[in-house]
Amino acid sequence: MCGIIGVCTRVDKKLNTGDVVYKGLLRLEYRGYDSAGVASVEQGVLRVLKGKGKIADLEKRLGLSRVRGSVVIGHTRWATHGAPSDVNAHPHTDCTGTIAIVHNGIIENYRELKEELARRGHVFKSETDTEVVVHLIEEFYKSGDRPYDAFKKAVSMIRGSYAILVVFASAPNTIFFAKKDSPLVIGLGDAANFVASDIPAVLEYTRRVITLRDGWVGFVTGDSVFIEELGKGPVNPMEYVRVVEWSLESASKGGYSHFMLKEIHEQPRALVDTLYGLSSDPTLREASKVMAEARRVFITAAGTSYHATLHFAAALAKIAGALATPFVASEYEAYLPVVREGDVLIAVSQSGETMDTLKAARAFKERGAKLIAVSNVVDSAIPRESDIALYTRAGPEIGVAATKTFTTQALLLSFLALDYALLRGAILKSEYDEYARELSRASDLAAKSIAWSEGLAKKVSEMLRLKQSVYYLSRGVGLPTAMEGALKIKEIAYIHAEAYPAGESKHGPIALVEEGFPVVFVVPRDAYYEKVLLGNIQEMKARGAWIIGVAPEDTSLGEQFDVFFRVPSSHWLTTPITHTPPMQLLAYYTSTLKGLDPDKPRNLAKTVTVE
Ligand code: F6R
Repeated sequence: MCGIIGVCTRVDKKLNTGDVVYKGLLRLEYRGYDSAGVASVEQGVLRVLKGKGKIADLEKRLGLSRVRGSVVIGHTRWATHGAPSDVNAHPHTDCTGTIAIVHNGIIENYRELKEELARRGHVFKSETDTEVVVHLIEEFYKSGDRPYDAFKKAVSMIRGSYAILVVFASAPNTIFFAKKDSPLVIGLGDAANFVASDIPAVLEYTRRVITLRDGWVGFVTGDSVFIEELGKGPVNPMEYVRVVEWSLESASKGGYSHFMLKEIHEQPRALVDTLYGLSSDPTLREASKVMAEARRVFITAAGTSYHATLHFAAALAKIAGALATPFVASEYEAYLPVVREGDVLIAVSQSGETMDTLKAARAFKERGAKLIAVSNVVDSAIPRESDIALYTRAGPEIGVAATKTFTTQALLLSFLALDYALLRGAILKSEYDEYARELSRASDLAAKSIAWSEGLAKKVSEMLRLKQSVYYLSRGVGLPTAMEGALKIKEIAYIHAEAYPAGESKHGPIALVEEGFPVVFVVPRDAYYEKVLLGNIQEMKARGAWIIGVAPEDTSLGEQFDVFFRVPSSHWLTTPITHTPPMQLLAYYTSTLKGLDPDKPRNLAKTVTVE
């Protein structure tokens, strides 16, 4: 989704603002974009540079980093209204060219506003919804309001989702901001203050941040912050300052060719940190209690996080004997009619900002359900709106494809299932300890799985890159992991992939299988699954399929595989942790071999803040 960065320097400090914003834009690239731009106020003059294309190319063409001025704002655009083009790129300006805006989100009532403004003589240059807002500000400013009042009046007239920054040529030391449903943070630095879509964009300069809440508007100068809740009055910013633990190093590539590869390799560390965080966090028990008191438990998420919820649901059933209902967040409407007070919704989102998941959570809450959030970003929207928030500690994930956030989610949710089972008396303490011992090996298991599969993944990718389609099959507890494998190859290597329960082959999908058709079998460590999967492997082999097995080193199925990704032998509960890394690596190397950029797959954004 779009990214925003703004910097406002202290008058007595020297800071190369153009450079700050340029570097900030590069750090926001991972969110996905098609165009970018900056606006600066230099000695009372507003200057805008923007265009379609990669930031590095725009830098060569326009010299984004060479802008100077006490305030600079920048934007990466991911087209929603109007095609990717130079004109539709942000920032947008008013008719006089003295007010500039960058915006993330969607202005729902832009058509009505645009018609009215056009009647009043405003001339629009772009097809975007955003441009309407800057003309609206101009309208109030022109009629005599001061910049902040004009800004506030305009914000109070727009509907939809937005993170907005605005600068005026006549207010050369100030950035105005407003936030609703799209993320925005303020960074408090020594030489400057910053406003950005996410924390990594400002980490080089400060770790002191304020996460803005919905309905907040205000402004920053180089040495001050003013915030108010629209229509309600001032908020004390200092009450919301927190120091983030993430380091700049964790938000940079650190020698790896891509963020994704670095993040795959960070999994052992992320799992240790998550485990450590859980061991000292009473919130896990609070969440179990809320679940134990609930009439029904629903679980929701999107994409990769959804696969983690499927693993959780399977763990709840097998360990706690409890039935929970997982559903894809964008489908929440289908479940809403049955939701009542006494129900619980567990919303899983690494970013904590996914609009589909946020909408589902809000709708359930409105009907009286309690909310438990699982996220990787402290203070993000979904945990903030929940009764209880649990956090994975994967550190910032920059690559668009989720990797370390998935395995840490699986770890956290496995512990939640265990704790709930213990609380409900479904397992004895001694059984709990046994499961917990297996889970506490997570880091070591992931490290081995990565080390054992990397070389083979490189080799296999040479063949896989030539394929059009691939199946990922498993059964029971292995299925969520197979689904995750299929999503990875689809997203970053652009190979059509389908994951389904292996027993379904003969009910349709096997019709596609012919000589050389790749089929990945995800084999969890469990004698029952090995037995039933043997039959499924053989029916595929009989049709000439190319069989790729991801299975425990001591599996009885080794001889069946044309390619065998060995993973460490451990309990089925750790399947997402042991079996996902080889498939992540396979997707990564297939992608790079095809000359693609795995960090920024086409049409995808890291945080999907629109419905
Ligand atoms: C896949 C991927 C997406 C996200 C999905 C939900 O690699 O990254 O499918 O998992 O958009 O994102 P979060 O977890 O931030 O809610």
